[in-house]
Amino acid sequence: MQSIWSLETEFTKRKSLEQDISVDVAVIGAGMAGLLTAYLLKEKGVQVAVIEANTIASGQTKNTTAKITAQHNLIYNKLIIDVGERKARQYAVANQLAVEKYANLIQRNGIDCNFERKSAYVYSMDNNKLLKEELRAMQMLDLDAEFVERTTLPFPIKGAIKLSHQAQFNPLKFLKPITEELTIYEHTIVHEVKENTIITNHGKVKAEHIVFATHFPFVNVPGFYFARMHQQRSYVVAFENCDKLDGMYIDEADGGYSFRNYGNLLLVGGAGHRTGENGEGGAYEQIREQAKQWFPNAIERYHWSAQDCMTLDGVPYIGHFAPLEKNWYVATGFNKWGMTSSMVSAMIISDMIVGQNTKFAEVFSPQRFVVSASIKTLLEDGMKAVSGLSTQALLIPKTHFDELPNGHGGVVEYNGMKVGVYKNEKGEAFVVSTRCPHLGCQLEWNPDEKTWDCPCHGSRFDFKGNLINNPSTTNLIKY
Ligand code: FES
Repeated sequence: MQSIWSLETEFTKRKSLEQDISVDVAVIGAGMAGLLTAYLLKEKGVQVAVIEANTIASGQTKNTTAKITAQHNLIYNKLIIDVGERKARQYAVANQLAVEKYANLIQRNGIDCNFERKSAYVYSMDNNKLLKEELRAMQMLDLDAEFVERTTLPFPIKGAIKLSHQAQFNPLKFLKPITEELTIYEHTIVHEVKENTIITNHGKVKAEHIVFATHFPFVNVPGFYFARMHQQRSYVVAFENCDKLDGMYIDEADGGYSFRNYGNLLLVGGAGHRTGENGEGGAYEQIREQAKQWFPNAIERYHWSAQDCMTLDGVPYIGHFAPLEKNWYVATGFNKWGMTSSMVSAMIISDMIVGQNTKFAEVFSPQRFVVSASIKTLLEDGMKAVSGLSTQALLIPKTHFDELPNGHGGVVEYNGMKVGVYKNEKGEAFVVSTRCPHLGCQLEWNPDEKTWDCPCHGSRFDFKGNLINNPSTTNLIKY
């Protein structure tokens, strides 16, 4: 199902690239980060072209819950411990500036996008100690945070940290006027990037600077982002007939729920998992059952899901793509905080390109490696990759093609081969290779979305084998 944002906004269609072109800056990816980068560069007088494999905002931007906030769960205490107060302050300043930059842009251009100032809350059901430590860290960094014991949530909590003067909006209504003046080529697929040339299915783009804003970078080497990130999926259900909340809420604990209102709807998010690890399904059902307990009269109107890139240390990678590629830039790894991180990326990268000094870029540098903050996730991600590869190479399916019931998908044996099969309700079968085209891990069936998902780095494919999410750049082999 489409998100509420997609249903309310239609973008002007753009042509594909029709000939070789030359520009100052080429941005690959027409999501929030790429479009804001292009917009800020254009404001600085730079000639920019945006290249998009699909259509404007057709990736993760349309699936966000669209909270604009510098409160990113419990990050500040961790940051002070991992990288020190100076860099933690850079993170706080950058994100608070991003909130204000949105407000300023929207006000200056009179954009009607349901922008509302709201407080952001991170709450805990059972751990005040973590909240108190985070509060102390936020106050040390001059963020306007306070501890509260009572909220408008429909269940008891131990406490919450409230950060005032944050915001929420409709991201696609915001982007529509922003994109009007930009040069954007849709349905233009990048095959290769060589130094300052982008080779697409419709011609070449020569650019002095190239920005990769493609959610997950599709270039494996240099950069090695596949070894430094994994992806997670989470689910949103929008209900009518719920009590109105006074802000945007998120649980500090893994497996908790997030909330925000949009008009008469309450958006409840949760049931998150690593991409490729939802074999049993039931994510939407979990949110529905929970919401029924809090709001017995709730009526479901929409549901959708989102995919997020998670970095080793919880901080996005924004800046130079790799040490030797001085004119390549990257914006990725937003760790579920895509709206503010997109604006932070746009500010940093546009400043770098025009040679302005960005005071808060250091903490986001993609070239960093903070051992204490990264090692645990690095080992976990490494183990997942080894397991995904060996499963594909060694594991023999337990089920035969004929045993798979209609309406189900799974990895089965067929004529001595291991294949992925989805049988629709009529018994029509869609048969694909279970080998991920990115680096060869075994794909897993996601019954909630009828997709093939990769547990290694998060590529996804529909049941027919068509690519949905990178880093893979090609479809599955279809039998
Ligand atoms: Fe990397 Fe599948 S996404 S192997």
